[in-house]
Amino acid sequence: MKKLLFVGVLLALTVFPKAQGFFNPEKMVETGVYYYPEAWNPDQWDRDFKKMEDMGFEFTHMAEFAWAQMEPVEGQYDFKWLDKAVELAAKHHLKVIMCTSSATPPVWLIKKYPEVLVELPTGQTAEHGTRQHGSWSNPKFRELVTRLDAAQAKHYGNDKRIWGWQIDNEPSHYGTYDFSPAVQKNFKAWLQQKYKTIAALNEAWGTAFWSGVYTDFSQVEIPNAPRLISGVASPISIVDFKRFSADECAGFISMQYNTLRESITKDQFVTSNFMHIHTDVDPWRNKDLDFISYTMYPVAGYTAGVGDQGFRLGDPWRISWANDFFRPLKGVTGVMELQPGQVNWGSYNPLPYPGVIRAWLWNAFAGGLDFICSYRFRQPLYGGEQFHYGMVGTDGATELFGGQQYSEFMKEIRELRKLYKPKAPMPAEYAARKTAVLYNPDNIWETEVQKQTYQWDEVGLITRYYSNLKSLCVPVDIVGEDRDLSAYPVVVAPAYQMVDKALVEKWRKYAENGGHLVLTCRTGLKDRNGHFFEAPWGDAIASLIGAKIAMYDELSKETKATVTFNTKNYTWNVWGDILEPYFGVETWATYADQFYAGKASVVHHRVGKGTVTYIGTVTTDGKMEKEVLKKVYDESGITTNEQPEGVMVNWRDGFWVAINYSSSKVLVNIPAKSKIIFGTKELGVAGVVVWQ
Ligand code: GAL
Repeated sequence: MKKLLFVGVLLALTVFPKAQGFFNPEKMVETGVYYYPEAWNPDQWDRDFKKMEDMGFEFTHMAEFAWAQMEPVEGQYDFKWLDKAVELAAKHHLKVIMCTSSATPPVWLIKKYPEVLVELPTGQTAEHGTRQHGSWSNPKFRELVTRLDAAQAKHYGNDKRIWGWQIDNEPSHYGTYDFSPAVQKNFKAWLQQKYKTIAALNEAWGTAFWSGVYTDFSQVEIPNAPRLISGVASPISIVDFKRFSADECAGFISMQYNTLRESITKDQFVTSNFMHIHTDVDPWRNKDLDFISYTMYPVAGYTAGVGDQGFRLGDPWRISWANDFFRPLKGVTGVMELQPGQVNWGSYNPLPYPGVIRAWLWNAFAGGLDFICSYRFRQPLYGGEQFHYGMVGTDGATELFGGQQYSEFMKEIRELRKLYKPKAPMPAEYAARKTAVLYNPDNIWETEVQKQTYQWDEVGLITRYYSNLKSLCVPVDIVGEDRDLSAYPVVVAPAYQMVDKALVEKWRKYAENGGHLVLTCRTGLKDRNGHFFEAPWGDAIASLIGAKIAMYDELSKETKATVTFNTKNYTWNVWGDILEPYFGVETWATYADQFYAGKASVVHHRVGKGTVTYIGTVTTDGKMEKEVLKKVYDESGITTNEQPEGVMVNWRDGFWVAINYSSSKVLVNIPAKSKIIFGTKELGVAGVVVWQ
């Protein structure tokens, strides 16, 4: 396995240098902030940029929503005002991330070409005045976006003050699916390209069911959302529509990438900022971008976190997840938007816990990020995001608590840079537990259509496995199936419902060669078309996991059934696979009640030089799953370093960073010979300790 790990590291080094070339490794991380010059009195710009510089910012970000200002009349471009803003930013030593403004088409465009508007399944169209209302599939919209991008790229493409580009903003329609005529047309073409013949589509979609048979591609429309009329359309037709929509989004971003690249220098990067977990689109489809960045708002009334103050701290795993999801693609990522304080759009908007914004910044740093950008510099006085904090408040001058924490972090980073040593090797024990979490949005889209239990939450399940790994201080890459798994001593594939022979073979070889594979319930049940295999239940993975999946059970939220692992009981009620292990396969956990008491819930199978562990139950708090993971590492001779609940520990560039997301004081286990740079072993709530 060591040799394999070495090959993996070499591979990573040979694949990634291009993206890394945009950043100066000695700076480790650079910090910036959003500015919307078009929204503020030009007389204040100089003062505002000066303030940014004084606070320690190194770059700013502009023009993201400024289509109406850059092209006030069709075909007439005005960059003069933006030139002035760029000049003033440069005067204050701020590099600029320039943005394309495709998320906010202006009113002249909508009035002249109303066909570009996103349309709901009911026929209602979006209206001017919001954002993300232009259809990625509409040829006119694409043409107009391309024209503006080309003009902007010609204007700024050789400008040394421009560090790089952001395409669009959070590409997605924020959960709305577009049903406009252009989408219907492109969907048909996409299906034709995929299936070639209508017979193949009929077979894949299983149209023999409910008289669904088509005789021509022209008859195929976007399927109804589940239960819009009654029942569920062919699940795979819905998955295909989601795959198609994700492709359309990626195509729209690629189109802009190519347009920019025609005119800009190779020194300017081009990225886009995707939401950190948003499954209507698929960021990984944009492999052509120089790298992909993400947006992050940990506290907005949607998370309980750890302990009674968790709602002010955010989930401990969230920023790490984004780091580990976006970084492995090109070896580089950054957070393009990080929450500055209270936001306006949560179900409720609590004050973040004192100090936690600095902790988030350190968490982003610790994940290997090259840049961090705060959304936003000034608190808006008007518009749809009133109440949203900035670095400075409504007077445009007073640093708010978020701003103060940014300043503190940026001061600390400047200190840390003095200790930077190029190519500091990852500590051997830490590297030895490097783990991949396998991810494919198809599994999310598919289980969403047929949840089978109202409690099924595929994203929640994947992130919980991830979170368990992080609490054991494991470095994780979230990767797709195309990845060479041999670089990872452990691979976890949570609820991987859709498989094919090649994938199962890849898993088998991985284990035979010494890898430790962890699979869970709802894995391998369906083929890529979402059909069950015409074989005994679970047959696709039975010989791999060394057990027959005899039955599965689901219970109500109120029922608390029990499963026993290592003499400890855990409650469960979401999903339980009832397993019958083959001869010689170890049973690690069994059901303690229900009519199948005594039957296996977790099995462990030696395969070649490695192992496959199958966890058939989803427990109420995921604690059994964590203990099972720990045992997988223990039994294979890989050390872990379990942290108190809510503590995140990561390593980068020779520095360890621990953050306390829990609601009480904790003691971090720091080896005696280490040198603490910031903080103390005893960490208060939202505390950070950095050591070498
Ligand atoms: C983000 C979005 C920004 C801004 C921000 C407010 O999701 O990309 O443009 O709206 O939320 O928190």
